[in-house]
Amino acid sequence: MTTDRLPAVTLRRAAQADIAGLAAFNAQVHGAGIGVLAERLCAAPHCTPSDFWVACDPRGSIVSSLVLMPGVLEIGTTPVPYAEVGLVGTAERWRGLGVCSALIRKAHADLCARGIPLAMLLGIRDYYARFGYVYTVPAGLYATLALDAAGTASPPYHLRPAGLGDVAQLTAWYRDLAGRRDVRGARRDEAATRYLLAGLGGSATASSFYLLSDAAGPVGYVRVADESEDGGLYINEASDLSPAAAHALLGLLAELARRRGRPHLRFNLAADHPLRTVALELGASPTSTYAWQVALLQPRALLHTLRAEFTRRLDGWPVDLELNLCGEGVCLRGGPTVTIGAAGQTAPTATATAAAGHLAQLCLGSHTFADLAAAGADVDADDKGREALALLFPRLIGWIDPLY
Ligand SMILES: CC(C)(COP(=O)(O)OP(=O)(O)OC[C@H]1O[C@@H](n2cnc3c(N)ncnc32)[C@H](O)[C@@H]1OP(=O)(O)O)[C@@H](O)C(=O)NCCC(=O)NCCS
Repeated sequence: MTTDRLPAVTLRRAAQADIAGLAAFNAQVHGAGIGVLAERLCAAPHCTPSDFWVACDPRGSIVSSLVLMPGVLEIGTTPVPYAEVGLVGTAERWRGLGVCSALIRKAHADLCARGIPLAMLLGIRDYYARFGYVYTVPAGLYATLALDAAGTASPPYHLRPAGLGDVAQLTAWYRDLAGRRDVRGARRDEAATRYLLAGLGGSATASSFYLLSDAAGPVGYVRVADESEDGGLYINEASDLSPAAAHALLGLLAELARRRGRPHLRFNLAADHPLRTVALELGASPTSTYAWQVALLQPRALLHTLRAEFTRRLDGWPVDLELNLCGEGVCLRGGPTVTIGAAGQTAPTATATAAAGHLAQLCLGSHTFADLAAAGADVDADDKGREALALLFPRLIGWIDPLY
């Protein structure tokens, strides 16, 4: 275990005085653009320097850090607090000593103390499972389209860069599309839109928003990343669009890509996004997928939070489901309103077993119980339990945008 090797480091929250140090540290570990992002996050609407956790050597220099970006997910109509864990890194000569592990445990304890049941991240494979993270909601469904296949710009449609005067409209469009999904990411208010539009310049996640208009005026927007890993023009967000507007937008994006010397378009949009659908019809090839890694830190708290959803889903069925979560028994009792209590009070009419990670997948609707069982996951249920789980945890359509 890496903890046996843990050197003498101080683990603490960062403060205002650490901003320059955080920027320099992140630039050194992750590259210049992430150094700028660390600095920008300190001034973001959803973040402060004290959301960063740092490990410092005896001289006070940062040797490892991460940031907890708090947000609110919506599962159905229920708001669920979560935090995105980001910018995780340790200075090269301090790696392999358990410093990051200690920081992650500290961060999890902090989230539990704040009543935040879910930690989520977009990160490297094979590291975070040890802290209870499992893959859940999709975060990247990449597809690339050759410029020649994208068609040509067709008047009267045209693009113009969005400005601060468009913030209210951009926010409304974003909410309109997100609101149609079962699981949605952080509620985007106008401050968050303003930050994404104007607050990320020079950072690794800087992007440009463009407004798409037809003869009658603006009909939607698209968000294009400034940077690119494979040379393509990355389309990371777009509003809902009619098929005609989506076709026109593809032609305009191809034109933009040519002007920027980018050889192809790359889409990172949800599976149900109309722009992605049209791009696939025109021959875009799906390249890879990626998903959020989620740790369910407080299983009972999440079940409590979701009680109204469960009540709706069970629709009065008076099942007494005893859920064994890693040895901890929870009784979920159906009826006019679902109640959640300790197991062992009455004889249950149904039983099921799942680890916290699998419960996260079930609650976020990325997997059903049947999916998990078929994949050989360590879950179990009797017949009535399976019936209850199928009602309680349907597959949900979700998409969660990062907060930067
Ligand atoms: C990943 C990283 C943060 C771990 O920090 P650390 O302080 O060395 O972490 P710990 O000492 O607690 O844990 C070390 C373990 O991480 C594993 N690890 C390191 N990099 C890994 C990677 N890319 N993929 C999977 N596991 C990795 C090591 O093999 C080691 O495993 P062991 O404990 O079984 O020996 C650090 O290697 C780093 O900064 N890497 C570069 C930046 C990066 O990739 N950050 C993560 C972004 S999501």
